[in-house]
Amino acid sequence: MSDQTRAQELAGEIRRLKKERHAVILAHTYQPPEIQEIADYVGDSLGLSRQAACSDAEVIVFCGVHFMAESAFILSPEKTVLLPEINAGCPMADMITAPELRQKKQELPDATVVCYVNTSAEVKAESDIACTSANAVQVVASLPEDRPILFVPDRNLGNYVAARTGREIICWEGFCGTHNRLAADDILKAKSQHPRALVLVHPECRPEVVALADTVASTTGMIRFAAGSKAREFIIDTERGILHQLRKHCPDKEFYLASEELICPNMKLTTLEKVQRALESLEPRVTVPEETRKRAERCLERMLEVT
Ligand code: 13P
Ligand code: SF4
Repeated sequence: MSDQTRAQELAGEIRRLKKERHAVILAHTYQPPEIQEIADYVGDSLGLSRQAACSDAEVIVFCGVHFMAESAFILSPEKTVLLPEINAGCPMADMITAPELRQKKQELPDATVVCYVNTSAEVKAESDIACTSANAVQVVASLPEDRPILFVPDRNLGNYVAARTGREIICWEGFCGTHNRLAADDILKAKSQHPRALVLVHPECRPEVVALADTVASTTGMIRFAAGSKAREFIIDTERGILHQLRKHCPDKEFYLASEELICPNMKLTTLEKVQRALESLEPRVTVPEETRKRAERCLERMLEVT
């Protein structure tokens, strides 16, 4: 059997099981194309959180990484939340633990703690409000001006928000290995090859890369920008999975990845076989202990109230 026939067979089986289980499949824009194609909703972290909060399905199959499935469970604890590959984590989320954050809070007792959604449930439980790359500027702008802000764990996103809001922000020294690897030279090289292209940068990139952007946006924000722009060519500075949605939404435009290294290995661990197996066995499940869940829910709901 060819790979294509096998993929079609699996996709059909997934659709059948999805109905049987009253399930919804949510996929991040960094997922492999064949996973995006079987999803009911493809989006950025903010869109996925909103979908998880409002879905009336009994089962959520989360095609993404662990913190995303955890957020879905935090917002919808009555649902069965499945992560087809339980080892799909986010190295940036692992750069801060709850005990480390508690220690920092003791040093900064007046600080408002803003956590990027790329954090564990335990870290969210210790934070005042969450944010995603799509709403970080609005979240920080909504906070009282008389208290310092501690932003965890992404220093690049924290610095970008500080520049945009003019607020003083103390940043945790975390970063995304995929985005942080991108250098200003990669952008300059791509620009010299495609001089008419606009540069779309994710705020997880370094400040010197952000400085070269025509627009800085979350993954969904980039798709919206490209679709609404008169420009026909774009240099993309985020994980390569987004190219699938960009080409679907804008079939007449050209997209160039700023570097071939823009790949998140964890996002690529999801396969059709694993999704099919998860729907069949209703495993592996992601849950959060109730006491932690309630505190983390408050942190996520505050974010959803702001945006
Ligand atoms: P967005 O989904 O907010 O664009 O963030 C990208 C990301 O790295 C998720 O892990
Ligand atoms: Fe984490 Fe970066 Fe992968 Fe997003 S792209 S899941 S931040 S490692």
